[in-house]
Formats: sequence, C-alpha cells, structure tokens
Amino acid sequence: MPTMNNTLDIKELKTRIAQQPLLSSQLGEIHYFQNIDSTNKWLLENGNCGDICLSEMQQSGRGRRGNSWLSPQSGNIYFSLCYCLDKVSTNRSLIGLVVGICVAEALQLIGLQGHGVKWPNDIFWKNKKLGGILIETSNQSKKLIIGIGLNVKLSKEHQAEVDQEITSLDKVMESGSFTREQLIYQIIDRLFNRLHNFSTLNFADFIVSWKKWDVLLGDIIQFKHKGSLISGKVTGIDKHGRISVEHKNEETVHYSSIDIIKKKCAGKR
Ligand code: BTN
Repeated sequence: MPTMNNTLDIKELKTRIAQQPLLSSQLGEIHYFQNIDSTNKWLLENGNCGDICLSEMQQSGRGRRGNSWLSPQSGNIYFSLCYCLDKVSTNRSLIGLVVGICVAEALQLIGLQGHGVKWPNDIFWKNKKLGGILIETSNQSKKLIIGIGLNVKLSKEHQAEVDQEITSLDKVMESGSFTREQLIYQIIDRLFNRLHNFSTLNFADFIVSWKKWDVLLGDIIQFKHKGSLISGKVTGIDKHGRISVEHKNEETVHYSSIDIIKKKCAGKR
C-alpha cells in the first residue's frame, strides 16, 4: 500500500512545480480544501484560468452522465483544473481523450503498469475502474473545468457502494512506492504540456498515443444505442473522437455515445 497522508503537502507540490518554469508560468492558484461539495463546481463558480482545486473529500462529487462520484475522505484524489483554451479549436471533441492519456501517462510515471483508458476517458486497471474524468464548460466557451477522480485508497465498505467493479492504487501498487503529491504533480505537468499544444495537435501523432492506452481496441463489445442492442469490434476512434465499431456486415460506424453492456477482450490488458 502506498504511504498516504490524509493531508496533502501543498508546499511540496508548489516546490515541484516551481522547478518547471513553463508549468509555473501557466499555473494559477492552488485551492485546497478538506471538504467541499465538488471541486468541479467550485472552479466553475470561482475559478480563473490556470487555477487548480483539490479536496480531501466531496459532499456531492459529480460523475459523467449525471452520476455521482463516491468521494470519501480516505486519501483519494479529487482534482479539478480550470483551463482556458487560447483558440476555440476544431478538435475540441478530442480534449476528453487527451486528458485520459495525460492521466494514464502520469500513472505510468509513478510506476503503475497494466492500466489504460476505456473510451472515452475512464481510467481502468485490468477490468476494474480506477478513476474517471468529467469535463464541464462555463458560460465562457473557452473555459474548461477538467475534473479527475482517482481511487488511491478505498475500503471494502466504500467499494461495495459502487455498482461496478472498481479498484484503487493501494491494491495494485507496492507499498510506499509513490506519494499523492508526486502523482498530482505528474498529472498537472502532463495536462499543461498537452493542453498548451492542443491547438496544433497532429491527429496522426495523437492516434499513436491513443492506441497505446486504448483498452477497448480489438474487443468485441455489446452495447445499447438509441434503444437497440448492438455488437461489433472496436477498431479505434475517428477524427472527432467518436468510437469506431466494425459490425458483422463489415460496415464501420462511429458512435459519440454508447453504453457498453458486455465485452470480450482481445487480451491486451
Ligand atoms: C466519471 O463519472 O467517471 C467521472 C468522475 C469524475 C470525478 C471527479 S472528482 C474531482 C472532480 N469533481 C467532481 O465533482 N467530479 C470530478
């Protein structure tokens, strides 16, 4: 189990960041709370470009599709970034996938193996969910709130509250092998780096990174779409970040939203 304090050392985090001039120049304020309703909501209401919000627990953690995000005070990571794009990019639909890649890379940098991104941006370790990403926009369309929740330490009781298979870093990493400050620093560094270059994103390069982390690639999935049950093989994503599925008749269809019910793994991760 990693050594985990219930209080983040924000001074240590700031020291790490200060050593990276490009990162320090982009980062705004770090807002740290013991308890908050939602770090995303707080930044939506109070955040300036470049600000970060972290909390030890959330009363009303928000998940995708209107779900809630289990947010006990047990040493997990509840993190949000307020990021302002300098241009309204045409590739905007790819941002969620880029953020997923950043988190996967950060986890690799602290020594995790066997993880990946499940389209569009769930963080998985083997077949269990380790973290999730929720991106919200403010009235100003250039301001994005990027929320990341990572299970670092979850008790059996908390795990039982979630109706899907989940895991946490304390179960899949060696004891004392990383600190939350290290992981948060790596996430911030990756996010600012990739988002800074987002307006000039090269799709071919992006696809190479995506394929590296895509846990569904090659899998046969069964999913619900517009009320029908459909199945097919995942062949990747298209230019708009939609998931590409090849059906039995060899036709490939790109979906912007699917609800996966069952999958047969191609045996990658
Ligand atoms: C998902 O449903 O998979 C996305 C979960 C996102 C949770 C994070 S925790 C930090 C931030 N604040 C929130 O209220 N939600 C996001």
